Amino acid sequence: MNDALTQDILVQNSLAQASLIQDSLVQESLPEGFTQLKDEPVFNPALHLQLEAPSDIFSLQDFGYDRDTGLADSPVDFAATSVFRILSAEGAAALHQTAKALEPFATSNPRIERNVRGGVYRSKFLRDLCLCEDITQFLSEIAGLPLMPHTIPHQLGHMNFNPAKIGANVDKWHVDTLRFDYVMFVTDPTQYEGGQFQYFKGTKQEMAALKASGAEVPPEKIISPAMPGPGYAILQQGNLVVHQAKGLTKPGERITMVNGYVAADPAISDYSRYDQLCHADPEDVVTTEFSRHSALHATRLLEKAVLADGFHTDHGAKADQLEKAANILLDAAAQIRRGKKEMEHFGD
Ligand SMILES: [Fe+2]
Repeated sequence: MNDALTQDILVQNSLAQASLIQDSLVQESLPEGFTQLKDEPVFNPALHLQLEAPSDIFSLQDFGYDRDTGLADSPVDFAATSVFRILSAEGAAALHQTAKALEPFATSNPRIERNVRGGVYRSKFLRDLCLCEDITQFLSEIAGLPLMPHTIPHQLGHMNFNPAKIGANVDKWHVDTLRFDYVMFVTDPTQYEGGQFQYFKGTKQEMAALKASGAEVPPEKIISPAMPGPGYAILQQGNLVVHQAKGLTKPGERITMVNGYVAADPAISDYSRYDQLCHADPEDVVTTEFSRHSALHATRLLEKAVLADGFHTDHGAKADQLEKAANILLDAAAQIRRGKKEMEHFGD
């Protein structure tokens, strides 16, 4: 069997396995206080999806990244897309119905005044949408590597709701503590004023230097993609693309949904940050989800790189893979023991 075929089979097995694990995680082990919604729409990819590829894809070099600032750590050159379509009109309407049912469970954190996290535990519609293999395959082709829905359930189907105060930003300039995510409009952006999703066409190091100097973000470096309607999105490498969500300038309803992904290849490192997640979600939930996520990552690496590896004499390579899997677990344990730290962002 050739190497490429072996790799394909391993990735497919990982995807199927992760899907099963994620599904069982959210159905059989609800965090305390979470209950399932009743009378939900049933997710139907044939009816609810309208996948249309983006016209433009920006690379990390387009954003000014080089080997010293982010390229060396990135598995692909992909940075972000122009606007593209994910949901049909029926899909967007069903997601809006779900978002309204989830809105009473909104929480706050130092960056976002109103967000709903862990919605995949409450909503089967949201769970099926976020784990949908058609979407995962479509996004993998855009990003240039096989992706897998995030194995921290609170990183799936995150929803932002506009703050009560007109003009207050929905979310500050920041990077995500995950590698890949799409940001999709649930409400129709043509029906309200303001509320743009924006990304910075520069590096996160440039943004940090700008903010440290007190300078304004140059308008020519801000991209505000025109969103033609609900169900449209952009995909980004969220840890390297600095982005924000503007406030509404008049009363209206603005809801977006963000779905997170990890690289399907477990040899690719992950960016999850326990200290940051503890600001967004209850610490006992973060600890359980982060532990399971790290255990699954290490297990997938062991399956691919050690259990499926045949007889050969490269002893160092086998030791490297064992150490790499062990280090995933040791790093996760160290992060849990260090605990919660200040929430990182670049301000408004
Ligand atoms: Fe974000």
